[in-house]
Amino acid sequence: MLIIMVIELKPVSIENWYDCTQLNVKQEQNSVFPAPIVYWIAESKFVHDFELRAIYSGAMLVGFIVFCNTPDEDGNYWIPAFMIHENHQGKGYGKKAMEKLIELMHQKGCKRVLIGHRPGNLIAGKLYESLGFQKVSEEICDGEIIRFLELD
Ligand SMILES: CC(C)(COP(=O)(O)OP(=O)(O)OC[C@H]1O[C@@H](n2cnc3c(N)ncnc32)[C@H](O)[C@@H]1OP(=O)(O)O)[C@@H](O)C(=O)NCCC(=O)NCCS
Repeated sequence: MLIIMVIELKPVSIENWYDCTQLNVKQEQNSVFPAPIVYWIAESKFVHDFELRAIYSGAMLVGFIVFCNTPDEDGNYWIPAFMIHENHQGKGYGKKAMEKLIELMHQKGCKRVLIGHRPGNLIAGKLYESLGFQKVSEEICDGEIIRFLELD
C-alpha cells in the first residue's frame, strides 16, 4: 500500500501557538537543541525577521521551524531553529519539512540558506548533507558546524 505523506508548514497563530510550546525534543537532545519553543516564539516578537512555522502531518502537529525572512549583511538567510517532536522523529517528517522550507524560502527570494548544528548532532548533519547542504568550512563556529545551500 502506498502511503503519501502530506507535510504542511503553517504559520504560528493564536490557534496553534500553545500547542507549539508543548513540542519538545528527546531528553538526550537537549544539549543540541537547548532552547524551548516558547523561547523562540518570544524572541520572534522582538526580532522581526524571524518567521515561525508549525510542521503538520495532516492534522497532527509534529515540529517547529524558525527561519529568517531577510538576509544578513552577506546575503545569507539563516534557519535558527528546526525540530521534530520526540515521538515523531525518525519517520521522515524532518526531511520532508526541510524540503518544504527550502521551497518556501526559494519562493521568498532567498538565494543562500545557512544552518548550524552541533558537531555531535550526526542525524541533523546527515539530514542536511542529504539535501545538498555543504560545510562552510571545517572550522567550528560558536560550537557549531555551519552549512550552506545555494538556491538558484
Ligand atoms: C534532526 C531532526 C529534525 C530530524 O528529523 P527526523 O524527522 O527525525 O528525521 P527524518 O526521519 O526525516 O530522517 C532524516 C534522516 O536522518 C536519519 N535518522 C533519523 N533518525 C535517526 C536515528 N535515530 N539514528 C540514525 N539516523 C536517523 C534518517 O534515516 C534519515 O536519513 P535518510 O534520508 O538517509 O533516510 C530531529 O531528529 C530533531 O528534531 N532533533 C532534535 C533537534 C535538532 O537536532 N534540530 C536540529 C538542530 S540544527
